[in-house]
Amino acid sequence: MKPIVNLGIFVADAAFRAARMPRMGETILGSGFALGPGGKGSNQSVASAMAGGKAHFITRLGNDDFAAMARSIWDKAGVTPEVTIDAESFTGAAMIFLDEATGNNAIIVTPGAANRISVADVENRAALIEGAAIFITQLEQPIPAAQRGLEIARAAGVTTILNPAPAASLTDAMLGLCDYLTPNESEAEALTGLPVTDPTSAETAARALLARGVGAVVVTLGGQGALYCDGATTLHCPAMRLGKVVDTTGAGDAFNGGFAVALSEGMPIEAALRFASATAGISVTRPGTAAAMPSRAEIDALLG
Ligand code: RIB
Repeated sequence: MKPIVNLGIFVADAAFRAARMPRMGETILGSGFALGPGGKGSNQSVASAMAGGKAHFITRLGNDDFAAMARSIWDKAGVTPEVTIDAESFTGAAMIFLDEATGNNAIIVTPGAANRISVADVENRAALIEGAAIFITQLEQPIPAAQRGLEIARAAGVTTILNPAPAASLTDAMLGLCDYLTPNESEAEALTGLPVTDPTSAETAARALLARGVGAVVVTLGGQGALYCDGATTLHCPAMRLGKVVDTTGAGDAFNGGFAVALSEGMPIEAALRFASATAGISVTRPGTAAAMPSRAEIDALLG
């Protein structure tokens, strides 16, 4: 089996559950707290490994306790680390506000050492990327590193996925390197300037992105599912509702990690979207991000 190579960040997620966000200058009492492994690239790698993929994760860590947390979750999930240790920096962290009523979240992330991932770091892993089934990255580490990874993958004929999170403005040159672009609603809006609120408006935004050179777009729409469009085919995959939504943080990562596995196994697009939706649907019923990713057995049981 060829690997799924993910380039991105690991951070420690400090998640606070409360009725609402504090206003500036205000202190409020929360109802819950958890410290656990996070970072979009790491979460996606964990999701891929748990879902049956051979996941390799390229990143930078400091030499500290949060780096040990990273190694522990990767060991548990079966992710192969491709790490540069950066003793002059620190492993990053994210502050996550969790709305106790809805499970929705707001995040501040400081990537720390991963903000120093360089083009050279990526070029050092060129052989790994060239031998992959899938190369996937996000925008939490510097964009030139992400672009270099996509260039190496594209030149080798490797399927590329860019999860453009957090939102950033991207050149057509970068978008043209993406076989699949997987924004959520707000990222699709930021990339296109078009409002995205439902599957119909998601398709309009997707077509605008196709016109800029993307191969296919999957807009994730939370409870409204996901909208796929490649110009010839448009598909709407409904969200899988599997009980109480406890924590939506990392749902996009679950979707992307599962989607990468499905593509690496050669599933047709409709089945790949369902596999990704099942991965995300299970993850939101559990607290945490990486810790909430389902096993392949759980996904298969759900999909029958
Ligand atoms: O997508 C969720 C992730 O975004 C969190 O784990 C947090 O670390 C941020 O990177």
